[in-house]
Amino acid sequence: MSQTTTTAADANTRTARKDIAMLKPAKEFSAKAHIKSLAHYRKLYAESVANPDGFWGRQAETELVWDKPFKKVLQFKAPHAKWFLGGKLNVSANCLDKWLDTPHANKAAILWEGEPAAPGKPGEERTITYRQLHRDVCMFANVLKRHGIKKGDRVLIYLPMVPEAAVAMLACTRIGAVHSVVFGGFSAQSVADRVYDSQARMIITADGGFRRGSVVQLKKSVDEALAIKGADGTPLAKTIEKVIVLRRTQTDIHIQEGRDVWWHRELEYVSADCPATPMDSEAPLFILYTSGSTGKPKGILHTTAGYLLGAKLTSRYVFDLRDEDVYWCTADIGWVTGHSYVVYGPLANGATSLMYEGAPNWPEPDRFWKIIAKYRVTILYTAPTAIRAFMKWGDQWPKKHDLSSLRLLGSVGEPINPEAWMWYHEVIGGKRCPIVDTWWQTETGAIMITPLPGATPTKPGTATLPFFGIVPEIVDDAGKTLPNNSSGKLVIRKPWPSMLRGVWGDPKRFVETYWSEVKGSYFTGDGCHVDKDGYFWIIGRIDDVLNVAGHRIGTAEVESALASNPNVAEAAVVGRPDELKGQALVAFVTLKSGIKAHPELREELRQHVGKEIGPVAKPDDIRFADALPKTRSGKIMRRLLKQIASGVEIKGDTTTLEDLSVLAKLATAED
Ligand code: PRX
Repeated sequence: MSQTTTTAADANTRTARKDIAMLKPAKEFSAKAHIKSLAHYRKLYAESVANPDGFWGRQAETELVWDKPFKKVLQFKAPHAKWFLGGKLNVSANCLDKWLDTPHANKAAILWEGEPAAPGKPGEERTITYRQLHRDVCMFANVLKRHGIKKGDRVLIYLPMVPEAAVAMLACTRIGAVHSVVFGGFSAQSVADRVYDSQARMIITADGGFRRGSVVQLKKSVDEALAIKGADGTPLAKTIEKVIVLRRTQTDIHIQEGRDVWWHRELEYVSADCPATPMDSEAPLFILYTSGSTGKPKGILHTTAGYLLGAKLTSRYVFDLRDEDVYWCTADIGWVTGHSYVVYGPLANGATSLMYEGAPNWPEPDRFWKIIAKYRVTILYTAPTAIRAFMKWGDQWPKKHDLSSLRLLGSVGEPINPEAWMWYHEVIGGKRCPIVDTWWQTETGAIMITPLPGATPTKPGTATLPFFGIVPEIVDDAGKTLPNNSSGKLVIRKPWPSMLRGVWGDPKRFVETYWSEVKGSYFTGDGCHVDKDGYFWIIGRIDDVLNVAGHRIGTAEVESALASNPNVAEAAVVGRPDELKGQALVAFVTLKSGIKAHPELREELRQHVGKEIGPVAKPDDIRFADALPKTRSGKIMRRLLKQIASGVEIKGDTTTLEDLSVLAKLATAED
C-alpha cells in the first residue's frame, strides 16, 4: 500500500477547513425538499443504522415493484451479502412498465441532444417518452432473444451517448442478460480483454460516434478486438457470436455476414411485446470494469434488487427529484455514474433524464450552458475536472445564457477544490443552488457520502455526511476507528444494498482488495479526513490507483501497457498534482539497451498506451531514465518518483535506495 497521494485539491481542502464557513440550505429550498432539516436527516439516519432490516425492508417494499415478495432483508457473512432474499423483480419493469398506466406514460423519459455536425449547426434532438422507451426496449429485448441471448448471458455494450445505449442496457435487464458497458473511448484491446474476462456472447456497437466534429470508429475497434489473439493463439473474443450495429455516423464499415447485423433491420423482425422476466433479487445485473492496483481491470458485479434500490433512493433524496425536474447528469454511460444516474436512478423515479452526446467545448465552450438554457435544466450533476475547465475558459461563456432554471448542482468523481466549488456556486448556481458533493465508487453502486440539499449545511470541499444506512468510518493501520478531527483510511462498516457482490470470475481478488485491509469491513481505497463536525473530506486514493480527470486509472495497467512496447525495458507510473485534472500521469521509462531516447519516441509511447488502453490513460509526461530508483530488494521506490514528478524536494529516508546517483539523474531527466 503506497502513501496517501497529496493532490492539489487536497492542499486547497486543507486551507478551506479554516477559512470557509458552513452554508446553510436556503429556507425556500428546504421547505419543498424531501428531507427538510438536519434534524429530519439525523432522525432517519439514526433509524436506518439502528435497525437496518426495518429501514431497508420498508424501503424495498415501498419503492420497488415485486413479482414475488422477498422473505428476508439481509443475510451477511462478511464479505458476502445477500439482500431481499426470496424476492423476484425486473429492473426494466421498475423503470418503465411501472409508469405505463400513470400520467408519466407520456412524460419525457429521455431528452437527447446530439453533437452538432458542424459549428453553427444545431445538434440533433430527440424526446423519448416513457411509453416510447418501453416500446423500444421491448422490441430490442426481442432482438436479443432472436439471437439466442438468455438469462445470465453476458452482453457487451460499446456505444456512443445515444438513447440506444439506455435501450440496450434496459433490454438486457428485461430478459435477465448481464450487460457490461465499455466506455466508447476505450481501445480494441480493452474490448477484447473485457469480452475474454466476461465470456460475453454478443457485442452491441455503432458504426461510429461523434466527438468534437470527428467520428470515433467504434465498429472498426470491434473488428480489431475480434481479431486479437491471446497467448494460446486463439482469438480472445472467440465467445462472440453476434455483433449488433447501430447506424449513427453513416460511416463505411465492414459487415461480416453471419456475425454482424444492423440494429434497424433487426427491428423489422420483432414485435413490441416482451414481458419482463422476473429475476431473483440477487441475479447478476451488470458487470462494469474498473481499474485496480494490478495490471488487469476488475469486473465489478452488481445484482438486481439492492442496486436498483440504492440507485433509486439516492437519486430521489440527493437530487431531491421532483416530477417537474429536468435532470442532467453529464457522465458517459460507460462509467458507473452513467449507469446509476443517467439511466437506472432517474428512470426508476419517473424523472426526465437528459443525455448529451458530445464534448463540453464543442463547437464552443458554452455548449453546456446552451443546453441548460434550451431545455430549462433544473439539476446539473457533473465532475470537478469539467468545472475547473469551465473556470479556465472564462465566465463570459455561462454569462451568455439564461441559467435561471437551475435549482441544484452536483459534483462527483474526485475531490472538488473549494475554489472550483465557489465558482460553481456563484457563476453557475447564481448563489441560490445548493451543491451536493457526492462521494461514491463503481463498487458502491450508489452515492454513499453526500449532503441532502434541503437538510445538510455544506462546506466547500467536503462530501459531508453519510447517506441513510451507510456507516463510513476512518481507521488507522490496525483498523481501529479514529475520532473526529483526524485522517485515516476510509472504510464502510456495515453492508448496504447496492454494494458490489464480487469481482467477476475472481473471488480471491474480491476478498483481497476490499475485505482484507481491515477485517470485517469494506475498504474503499481512499484516504479521508473527518473534521470536528463529523464531516468527511475525501483526500484521494491511497492504493496505486490514480484519479485523472475523474477517471480511475491503475498505475500498473499503464505500466504494463508501456512495457509491452518493444523499446521499453521498464516503466513506473505515478501521479502528480494537476490544476485542471486533479492528477496527471507521469511515466518514468527505461529503454532497452541500444535504444536511444528521443522526443518522437515519447509520442510513440503515448500513442501506444492509447492503443492498449484508451486515450484517457495516455501519460501526460514521459521521462526517460537510465535506471529507476529501487530498494536493495528490487522494489521501485514510488514515493521518490512521486516527489520527483511533482518537482518537490526529496524528503524522507533514502537509505534503502540501491544507487543514489539514480535520483540526481532522474530529477534533471528531460529526454
Ligand atoms: O477516490 C474516490 C473518487 O473516485 C473514486 C471512485 O472512482 P469510480 O469508481 O470511477 O467512480 C467515480 C464515480 C462515482 C473514489 O474512490 N471520488 C468519487 N467521488 C468523489 C471522489 N473523491 C472525492 N470526492 C468525491 N465526491
